[in-house]
Amino acid sequence: MTEIAFILNGTPLSVAAEPTRTLLDFLREDRGLTGTKEGCNEGDCGACTVMVTDETGPRALNACLLFLPQLQGKEVRTVEGLAAPDGRLHPVQQALIDHHGSQCGFCTPGFVMSMAAAHANGCRDHDDTLAGNLCRCTGYAPIVRAARAAEEAPPPDWLPSFTLPQISSGGTVSGESPSPGGAAAANARPAGGPGGADSPPVTGCRPTGLEELARLYEAHPEATLIAGATDVGLWVTKDLRDLPMPLFLGGIPELRRIEEEADRLRIGAMVTIAELRAALAPRLPGLAELLRRFASVQIRNAATLGGNIANGSPIGDTPPALIALGATLHLRRGETRRDLPLEDFFLDYRKQDRRPGEFVEAVTIPTEAPGLRCYKLSKRFDQDISAVCGCFNISVEEGRVAAARLAFGGMAGIPKRATAVEAALLGRPWTLATIEAARPAFAEDFTPLSDMRASAGYRLEAAAALLVRAFHDLQGRPVSVLEVEA
Ligand SMILES: Cc1cc2nc3c(=O)[nH]c(=O)nc-3n(C[C@H](O)[C@H](O)[C@H](O)COP(=O)(O)OP(=O)(O)OC[C@H]3O[C@@H](n4cnc5c(N)ncnc54)[C@H](O)[C@@H]3O)c2cc1C
Ligand code: FES
Ligand code: FES
Repeated sequence: MTEIAFILNGTPLSVAAEPTRTLLDFLREDRGLTGTKEGCNEGDCGACTVMVTDETGPRALNACLLFLPQLQGKEVRTVEGLAAPDGRLHPVQQALIDHHGSQCGFCTPGFVMSMAAAHANGCRDHDDTLAGNLCRCTGYAPIVRAARAAEEAPPPDWLPSFTLPQISSGGTVSGESPSPGGAAAANARPAGGPGGADSPPVTGCRPTGLEELARLYEAHPEATLIAGATDVGLWVTKDLRDLPMPLFLGGIPELRRIEEEADRLRIGAMVTIAELRAALAPRLPGLAELLRRFASVQIRNAATLGGNIANGSPIGDTPPALIALGATLHLRRGETRRDLPLEDFFLDYRKQDRRPGEFVEAVTIPTEAPGLRCYKLSKRFDQDISAVCGCFNISVEEGRVAAARLAFGGMAGIPKRATAVEAALLGRPWTLATIEAARPAFAEDFTPLSDMRASAGYRLEAAAALLVRAFHDLQGRPVSVLEVEA
């Protein structure tokens, strides 16, 4: 059991729970807050969306992929806690009614919470906001109309805890405020009583500093590191696995930093994909655009860069882009640190150059790469895993290819550079004829598999076609489906 202190719908709680108990199960089974729905239990449908607020502001997250220790010191708001105590609805709730944005209603609480978080953040890209919320019967047009209608409404003044007045810097919770909704729980008590505000912050399974993590993980290499839990969560909810010693990384400020060093960015392992996208948008727009296609808002708000690299997936979206950029990976075990080119980290299918007790601390990338272009091909535009992800970092001088780093996901058992294609481009005129001549080299670099996402033949054709796309893109022609107009 682990003690966790957080605020639920305005009420500070101290909860003793198994570290891998999900917020969704806790809300529905322990608190009777059944407005938060279980659809897929794997991050795909958004029916379980809640709003979680910390010092970075309010975020929509999937409760099914959140373990309770990840909530330490944060505020959780469910659909039951969104309206005013006197019954006035949140502007997005009222707009959904006014614009007929709900039929069976099963998906509606999740939509409401995604829309409320976007409203709080002033986000008006409603297609993007709602990409992680599935609705089978209303259709998206009325829902998007409702989101637009609520844009101008001021944030409700009855949601004061967005400023987190009750959470101290130590992560413990103090004070009390009224709670709209929620039954009493057997294993949860308001903070302030025994084990409440005076209890120590969660330790052990939730180190609060880098040194503590390094010591703990070196001593317990069998531990499971948990970052955003968008992969690990499924090991529990779908594979029903017991995790021997979960170690949550969310309380380590050093891992959450993005530091600018001359012409490079050092990105901490716990930086989320959403934070990374925001940081890269002005510097590396091609990569930021790829991250828009990474899962959904809820997943991007949880998933981390370190998790995307460390899981070693051949279809993770960030490694091909980072390899094309020439990223350096920073690893640490105890007091020992080592750096290596990211491409050397991936050895074989699900096998990485990571020693027992060693963790990903950060990644360094250059901030200047005007020739970087990244493309993801998947069956759906939103919220889908890549069939092929192609990333191209090409410099042209006096009409000839002066430098080329090409890396692909979905083409091999690991994210991998296309060194034969690079060699076929280097020093040659940057023309479609050169690209055509380089086409056979894709078969030297890759022997892709056929699986449910794509056939081997499709993958080889598509990878070569993406190079043609990069060519047109670098000439300034529109190539994105969002730019091409009929
Ligand atoms: C619905 C859904 C959609 C998804 N869509 C995409 C997508 O479009 N593109 C994509 O690339 N991925 C996608 N994923 C996969 C997942 O979101 C990413 O791989 C994510 O980046 C994992 O990060 P995390 O922080 O959640 O990692 P976790 O689940 O916490 O951990 C993943 C693995 O990394 C290890 N780990 C985590 N941090 C460290 C560290 N610092 N050092 C060493 N090991 C560490 C963990 O022990 C675990 O083995 C999706 C997942 C879901 C559920
Ligand atoms: S239940 Fe489907 S995303 Fe959580
Ligand atoms: S209203 Fe029925 S699934 Fe959306």
